[in-house]
Amino acid sequence: MNGNYQDWAKETAKKIAEKMEWVSEKSKDKIPYTTVNGTHDNRLDPKIEFTPDNGPRWWCNGFWAGMMWLMYHETGNERYREIGEYTEKSLDSCFDYFYGLHHDVGFMWLPSAVADYRLTGSEDGKRRGLHAAALLAGRFNPVGRFIRAWNDPIVEAGKEAQALDNRGWAIIDCLMNIPLLYWASDMTKDPRFKQIAMLHADRAMECFVRPDGSVRHIVEFDPFTGVMVRDYGGQGYGDGSSWTRGQAWGLYGFVISYIHTGKQEYLDTAKKIAHYFMANIPESGLIPVDFRQPKKPAWEDSTAAAIAASGLLEISRQVGEYERDLYLNAAIKLLKTLEEKRCSWGRENDCILEKCTAAYHDKEHEFNIIYGDYYFMEAVFKLKGDDVFLW
Ligand code: GLY
Repeated sequence: MNGNYQDWAKETAKKIAEKMEWVSEKSKDKIPYTTVNGTHDNRLDPKIEFTPDNGPRWWCNGFWAGMMWLMYHETGNERYREIGEYTEKSLDSCFDYFYGLHHDVGFMWLPSAVADYRLTGSEDGKRRGLHAAALLAGRFNPVGRFIRAWNDPIVEAGKEAQALDNRGWAIIDCLMNIPLLYWASDMTKDPRFKQIAMLHADRAMECFVRPDGSVRHIVEFDPFTGVMVRDYGGQGYGDGSSWTRGQAWGLYGFVISYIHTGKQEYLDTAKKIAHYFMANIPESGLIPVDFRQPKKPAWEDSTAAAIAASGLLEISRQVGEYERDLYLNAAIKLLKTLEEKRCSWGRENDCILEKCTAAYHDKEHEFNIIYGDYYFMEAVFKLKGDDVFLW
């Protein structure tokens, strides 16, 4: 099945490069999240409100820069470096007024500032990455051994009594943020960042991963005693369900923790989640929003497919040759399906991946989402044989 996969990856990388050549110029002053009538939106638009969900602090704001750094690595074209640097600088306002920054500082500054440092040695990139790492480390709950996900919700006056208390909430996605802490320990030679990352990853192994290999999205701990209280379905279908992007964050996140620490249990856990994910890939190769959602409506999430593919490729690089093809073949199936059925290569759309979904119960489903494009690009470049690794 995977005999000609490198030729396929080269061909697809060429299509990505052709598309990025014009899209990068068209969107060079933006930080896109999605599209409006096929055109990238802009999270830097001064007209939009400065909230965690919208303006510069939006958790997805590192992926456009990440795409520029992947393209820079791929082509050596300085234009991608300039656009990547512009995006990175544009996020500095988040540090000036850091209220509302969240655990997703890893998603924001690893593919932007830290990628810049890794690829060019930029001192500004290093400073920004370390600033973000200090904010992430500051969210650690030492009694519960977890990193708090979000902040106190903004509550309307008079409705304080009904406000949600999320001080003890941690989410599976955070496994993709903690690589910022591994990197910070490498930079500073101070083990504290890595210690926090490993305590969080250990607690996630204990409390998020179910015996069948599926993972919970949100786990609530008592923030004072650290005891696990309950879990929530979060962005998936419901309590006890299996949000596919969460499964993808889990399998990718644990293999990254293995790469940075060498701790065997992390690789074993990544494999366990991967086996569950692979066993649930439908015949079509198209990934639903939740593996346990009702048959109708059959909402899809192409981002889950792209993230899982990139994570499976990372696992395939870490295991012995007898196991390698299992993960490689699954990644190839996901990527080829996306390319055949869910990619837009023309000028009618600034994004590549179609049918991405942020959350099962949101009003909107199946639209363009920037991190779908980022992980698809990352996975295709890896499959082609690039040594790229921004996490
Ligand atoms: N990190 C939030 C999400 O995956 O939607």
